[in-house]
Amino acid sequence: MNIIEHFNHIKQWLENYIASFDRSDSFTALNLDLKREHTFRVCEETSIIAAGLGLNETDAAIAGLCALLHDVGRFEQFHRYRTFADNLSVDHGDFGCRIIEQYRLLDGLEDEHRQLIMDAVEHHNKITISEDLPERSRFFTSILRDADKLDIWKLVIDYYDNNTENDAVKLDLSMDNTFTEKVFLDLLDYRMADKKDLRTLNDFKLNQMAWVFDLNFKCSVRRVKEKGYLRRIASHMDNVMEVQKIYSRAQAYVYSL
Ligand SMILES: [Fe+2]
Repeated sequence: MNIIEHFNHIKQWLENYIASFDRSDSFTALNLDLKREHTFRVCEETSIIAAGLGLNETDAAIAGLCALLHDVGRFEQFHRYRTFADNLSVDHGDFGCRIIEQYRLLDGLEDEHRQLIMDAVEHHNKITISEDLPERSRFFTSILRDADKLDIWKLVIDYYDNNTENDAVKLDLSMDNTFTEKVFLDLLDYRMADKKDLRTLNDFKLNQMAWVFDLNFKCSVRRVKEKGYLRRIASHMDNVMEVQKIYSRAQAYVYSL
């Protein structure tokens, strides 16, 4: 099986795997669907980046497998802990790697390709990409992180727009209308906030605006501009100093490229 066939095989495996979870209560069914759809949209965002970067077929298939498997740990995580908050359960990047090993999902691939995918899944959700990763691993991790962010923007902004109630998307954040000073100061310094410091939904939204600084490729930044994500997040926040500062910096960055 070549790597393109392997991608199609894993796609089918994933569909069956997700379908094997009990969905008898509506909260579980909603969240399984949310992550399933997120996964396939991250695959689409990955294809767009792969085309933007002019990747060859093999590299595009490696990037595709990274996307397909990046959240494979989410389903068992939700099944066991009923939350997607890693700080309240398990690190879903590390956990995803365990699921990949448990089901031997990368058997038959070349060792190098297998390692690239494992590295990307493990590191896709860490605060920064480790300097210790080999360059090719950093490259595929970078593509995955951009594609993942592009879809999370879509997912949470749709959620704000529709004002649907789902505690799993809120990540158990406080609804009080304040900002955590450390989060604001980190973002002001162009550093992503540490997930552990995000206390309120406001912190979370502000951090999401600053995500643009963490994008790795110009074609990803262009996509944020096209989709109007910054403006759409700002429209769901009060027009206070913290929002004005981070919003204007993020917009200036997006339009500078
Ligand atoms: Fe993830």
